[in-house]
Amino acid sequence: MPGIMNTETDALDVAIRAAHAAGVLIRSAQDSPLQVRHKGAVDLVTQVDEACEREIRAVLARDAPGVPVLAEESGGAWNESTRWLVDPLDGTTNFVHGYPSYGVSIALEIDGELVAGCIYDPIRDRTYTARKGAGAFCDDQPISVSRTDRLTDALLLTGFPYDRRERPDYYLRYVRAFLTTSQGLRRGGAASMDFVALATGCADGFWEIGLSPWDVAAGALLVREAGGRVTNLDLAPLTLDGRRMLATNGCLHSEMGTMLRDLLSSE
Ligand code: IPD
Ligand code: CA
Ligand code: CA
Repeated sequence: MPGIMNTETDALDVAIRAAHAAGVLIRSAQDSPLQVRHKGAVDLVTQVDEACEREIRAVLARDAPGVPVLAEESGGAWNESTRWLVDPLDGTTNFVHGYPSYGVSIALEIDGELVAGCIYDPIRDRTYTARKGAGAFCDDQPISVSRTDRLTDALLLTGFPYDRRERPDYYLRYVRAFLTTSQGLRRGGAASMDFVALATGCADGFWEIGLSPWDVAAGALLVREAGGRVTNLDLAPLTLDGRRMLATNGCLHSEMGTMLRDLLSSE
């Protein structure tokens, strides 16, 4: 691996530079006309998603040459275990509507292990970072998950994948289970910001079916380094392409995981 991979700190600096470069594009595009295309019935992409991805790839190629990249809009390193994972603009539907919750998400995986992650919130100009074993931060302040340990007191987050019009009842079973047992349930529309809410202690649990590796990678490391836990929905170790993710503050993990495992087994 090239020299940049010698320290995860350097890799994180590269990720931050790339995320900030995308953030400049996102902010400067906020008042311009958007060209919105449909990747599916409710799956949108704009010229801003694509420009951000080009910019991030350019920074990564310049500052970490030779490291493969898997990015949402242009694909790439699906089968590598050492790679960057890039969501150039997470929360595109929110962005298109002007709903103020979206982010840039970049992570580095080395030999199948997440080692560095950065989520940039371009609206609030906040940078969330984590390095494996070195904690999680908002700008230079350490962050940590909540200590809520009863589901009845918990604020939960979820999201719905782009086949939701085809099988709403499938997703609603999961919603129903937690609507009736938690203190509240939110659907914010940007997985990166859901992970940030969990890692900063504003929410206590987050599950989602259908997320892609670039949606999960940086957020999972951020939550873990903030003291939380991230697995597949059935409590098995997280697989980035598993498409069934559970993240919690740790205290709620087995309670939520057991409920989710029961729901999965009764599908
Ligand atoms: C989407 C958002 C959303 C989640 C979807 C994702 P995108 O990402 O994170 O919250 O529910 O599953 O695909 O398409 O806006 O990058
Ligand atoms: Ca996304
Ligand atoms: Ca995206």
